[in-house]
Amino acid sequence: MDRIRISGGRRLAGEVTIRGAKNAALPLMVAALLTEEPLILTNMPHLADIDTLAALLESHGVVVAPAASEPDSAGAATEPDERALSFTVPEITNTTAEYDLVRKMRASVLVLGPLVAREGRARVSLPGGCAIGSRPVDIHLDGLARLGAEIELRDGYIEASAPNGLTGGTVPLAFPSVGATENLLMAASLADGQSVIQNAAREPEVSDLARCLVSMGADIEGIGTSELTITGQPRLKGARHAVVADRIEAGTYAIAAAITGGDIELVGAVAEHLEAPLQLLEQVGATVSQTDRGFRISADQRAHAVDIATSTYPGFPTDLQAQAMALMTVAEGASVISETIFENRFMHVPELIRMGADITVRGGTAMVRGVERLRGAPVMATDLRASSSLVLAGLVADGETMISRVYHIDRGYERIEEKLAALGADIERVGT
Ligand code: EPZ
Repeated sequence: MDRIRISGGRRLAGEVTIRGAKNAALPLMVAALLTEEPLILTNMPHLADIDTLAALLESHGVVVAPAASEPDSAGAATEPDERALSFTVPEITNTTAEYDLVRKMRASVLVLGPLVAREGRARVSLPGGCAIGSRPVDIHLDGLARLGAEIELRDGYIEASAPNGLTGGTVPLAFPSVGATENLLMAASLADGQSVIQNAAREPEVSDLARCLVSMGADIEGIGTSELTITGQPRLKGARHAVVADRIEAGTYAIAAAITGGDIELVGAVAEHLEAPLQLLEQVGATVSQTDRGFRISADQRAHAVDIATSTYPGFPTDLQAQAMALMTVAEGASVISETIFENRFMHVPELIRMGADITVRGGTAMVRGVERLRGAPVMATDLRASSSLVLAGLVADGETMISRVYHIDRGYERIEEKLAALGADIERVGT
């Protein structure tokens, strides 16, 4: 298994291109199940999770193929773009999502709504938990039942059926779950009648999916708000949609600039999707400036410690909590970090402590007392965002940090060591 070696102490400077968001691309790929016509997605990131989901979708009959990023104007076939893919589903050949595929990536549960909506039935493995929590799907299932699906749990599988199709209904979400909102948005798009999703998630990736569905012919009102009204259509058509920029990748590199006292332009990033994280970076003493290609982060002093509490959008994203904690481990002062979304998202703490961080965890709260210097050490990645916080810590630690199990990082970051090396980091990927 690959590892990443970092020698800390370099200031990062330059520019980095932010790619399409993993957490937008995944539901967008699933939306192809809703139509027989080609859905072409551009600005696609090159990530392990994308490949995993493509394999699952192919098992349902989706034909995945390279695509040109622009429609051929005069009919001349334009060159395929390495970041454009077409997803075509002439017919659904299989309505079962097997355990060994779903367990690799819980986003696979998103096929449930579209399969039931288009085929009238689905058998999807319960995703099971993961490193950061049990991650149930009760809100997904309650919502589908309110749209008329019969739901049964049998042998570790969700068996959902709606032989006469789904019917519109009101779906109050017990929690503004991102995945449940996406599953139900897709299901309601083909339901008979009007649906209202209340307490819907407002993350930019949810809005990006909604906008893509509208370009496919769906009728959705309230995009970006916590109440989504969907008037079901008999069928949807193909479309071409550019994946929204990855705010979590952008936030990670912004913190890399802050933690190394660097100066980085994040090309392609959307600042308004990162209001809370950019406010935090200004509070710790970094400078944020808009550019005509995205925004720039620079820091010329040690960060001041500030308290952080994660929350649903537009609050501080849980997916940047581990990265912000890395910054707080070397900040001046003490920071209280509360993780309110997942029950076990402090897996990075023991590894940061091995690097000399001073962190005490009580339940969902971590007290981080800033230290002058971290010390490089062999550490282990446990989940995607915890891994990126170890990379950030390694960038500033004295000496060498060796991170093992970097497959976690490759799930959500495209060539992170190449991008950081191009910014001046002393970092390389080494085989086992
Ligand atoms: C999405 O996961 C993201 N993944 C996660 O990013 C992100 O951390 C999360 O949203 C929160 O923003 C993708 O988009 C592929 P949730 P999701 O449903 O949809 C509980 C990353 O690092 N819950 O909003 O699974 C759940 O247990 C990943 O890129 C229920 O109780 O998140 C959690 O505590 C990690 N019942 C909370 O809600 C349900 O039916 C938030 O979960 C659904 C969720």
